Amino acid sequence: MNGPIGLFDSGFGGLTVMRELIEWLPNESFVYLGDTANLPYGNKSPETVIRYARANAAFLMSQGIKLLVIPCHTASCHALDVLRQELPIPVVGMIEPGLQLVQPFQRIAILGTASTIASGLYQTQIAQCAPQVKIFAQACPLFVPLIEEGFHEHESAYLIAQSYLEELKGKIDAALLACTHYPLLRKVLSAVLGPDIALIEPAVSAAKSVKAILMQKNLLRTHPESPRHQFFASDDPEKFRKFGKLFLGQSIEKVEKK
Ligand code: DGL
Repeated sequence: MNGPIGLFDSGFGGLTVMRELIEWLPNESFVYLGDTANLPYGNKSPETVIRYARANAAFLMSQGIKLLVIPCHTASCHALDVLRQELPIPVVGMIEPGLQLVQPFQRIAILGTASTIASGLYQTQIAQCAPQVKIFAQACPLFVPLIEEGFHEHESAYLIAQSYLEELKGKIDAALLACTHYPLLRKVLSAVLGPDIALIEPAVSAAKSVKAILMQKNLLRTHPESPRHQFFASDDPEKFRKFGKLFLGQSIEKVEKK
């Protein structure tokens, strides 16, 4: 029960989810792996994403994790079921937490990587659990590289968002941010879609699910010492350390090479 919670993403994006997890579970330790050597996942085939996800999970298991969170929506779409079958610990992805938030809306845009949108998973799951919702799915493949380069508020971000989202204007009430990177584009998305469009982020409901599972399985950390967070990157740990702050909302002291 005193082991850490593990998370992996292709890069920094999952730190936006870890930020919420720390908020909801301040007594827990976390191990985060950014698979920066293989970034981006969003334009890769399901087989490749599953291969990366298996390797990341094996690494985190070797760190003694008690629960795995897959904040990456692309990996959640392709590898969640596989890892749930293969791992002896609970695995939380992003699809179910996202589904919990769509009910109040009539017309929703799902914004995600090309691979997430092509999987069709969000579309079919929303159609099943909220058949009244009209769904628009939009792949935004240039968003992740823009954000990874720190261009999330640059005028180019507005132009690119404009070109992806122009067609959706006036047709939606909400946009589901089905990629962990996209919360950094909130300002741009609101400017382009309009301030009344709700931007739905599954991170908080994922954090609540993790808390509920830990409580239910009696896995909450009870160690008297302060929790410890560890960060690994499969490439360029120094870049990860510097940029990670933007996503996590606090400085990262040390990033180790996986
Ligand atoms: N941040 C990941 C996601 O949520 C993937 C980004 C990428 O590597 O393309 O989908």
